[in-house]
Amino acid sequence: MELAGKRIVLGITGGIAAYKAAELVRLLIKEGASVHVVMSEAATHFVTPVTFQALSGKLVFTDQWDPRVANNMAHIDLSREADALLVAPASADFLAKLAGGLADDLLTTLVLARDCPLLVAPAMNRQMWENPATRRNIAVLRSDGVSVIGPACGDQACGETGPGRMLEPEEIVDETIAHFQPQLLAGKRLLLTAGPTFEAIDPVRGITNLSSGKMGYAIARAAREAGAQVTLVSGPVSLPCPRGVTRISVTSALQMHAAVLGQVADNDVFVAVAAVADYRPAEPLDQKIKKAAQAAPPAIELVQNPDILGEIAALPAPPLCVGFAAESEKLAEYAESKRRSKKIPLIVGNLIHDGFGGDDNRLVLFDDEGQHALPVAPKIDLARHLVAHIAALLEKRQCTPASTG
Ligand code: PMT
Repeated sequence: MELAGKRIVLGITGGIAAYKAAELVRLLIKEGASVHVVMSEAATHFVTPVTFQALSGKLVFTDQWDPRVANNMAHIDLSREADALLVAPASADFLAKLAGGLADDLLTTLVLARDCPLLVAPAMNRQMWENPATRRNIAVLRSDGVSVIGPACGDQACGETGPGRMLEPEEIVDETIAHFQPQLLAGKRLLLTAGPTFEAIDPVRGITNLSSGKMGYAIARAAREAGAQVTLVSGPVSLPCPRGVTRISVTSALQMHAAVLGQVADNDVFVAVAAVADYRPAEPLDQKIKKAAQAAPPAIELVQNPDILGEIAALPAPPLCVGFAAESEKLAEYAESKRRSKKIPLIVGNLIHDGFGGDDNRLVLFDDEGQHALPVAPKIDLARHLVAHIAALLEKRQCTPASTG
């Protein structure tokens, strides 16, 4: 329920993607938002207002002169009560009208009369999107403070392929949720590792662990929502990359080490969430190990992997380093000892049975001030708390430039 208590006016303009707005209404409501739908006249040719009235449970407005509004001020009343005005799909024609400040129907009038943030999800043919007029209009809207979300690249209803596809309803909901997050890391760059590593024994076997990547990916998403430019170095997981995050996919600890060293310059924060294998087979084999009858099981010689976090923290001018510790017992003792040995300002402790694999976790943050326990919650909620804590530490560090970490 990440939009609980939020009132959203959803504007729908004329385009085939209007059919996806039905699913969008459903998902926004599922997240706790109340949704008021306003349609352009063109949109009603694709989907009827009845569909949206049934889904939103509220009157749908299409006309400035709607006699159901006693004071004839739907354009003022609807926007005054809204926390955000979201237009999806937003057609090329509609965006052109907005850029020019036109107000010739209910939806454009509503936009002009609003005092809440405006998000638009463009949807159009790829040549319309690439047309210089649309490019100009989008630039004007961005400079006016409008959030332009998407479009995506892909197959289009006209049979062509390219940029101009409306984002999927789930992605629009994620962007809407992100829009309400405080911009605590605006202008900052954050690098993080997530997931397990896989250390090859032979072409089909290896040493790995049960990290799903969910905790790290939630932190990547939360940091991006908070305005950071995020680079995610990820071990092998089956999660989609959070929108707006740059992902570098790696397999082994050595690859993760090389990727982090290659990216770390100019980052303000480094968060090591990955469950990196401490050891790897000394000589991974090119051919599959065969089971020989009556022979003793093969011995696998292991060598130590580089300590990525330890190395980054030891740089002459390190970013603010945040480590993780997953323990099966004595969480405070072991987490604090890792914090001291790696000389980092913050370590995040979690118990193995809480942290690995699931959607929820329980965290304890250990820093110079002591312990801060965060109760069981979805990983995205915990990630947002952690991001706020990191932002506070960054601010403190800026005030005391001589401090460590
Ligand atoms: O991915 P999920 O299923 O959501 O699970 C999340 C998690 C439980 C894996 C995560 O929350 C977590 O605790 N990650 C750290 C696991 C751990 O205990 O790491 P460690 O004790 O081996 O290492 C301590 C710290 O040093 C970690 O920040 C680790 O990323 C880092 N490290 C460790 C070894 C190494 N060679 N290089 C490192 O950078």
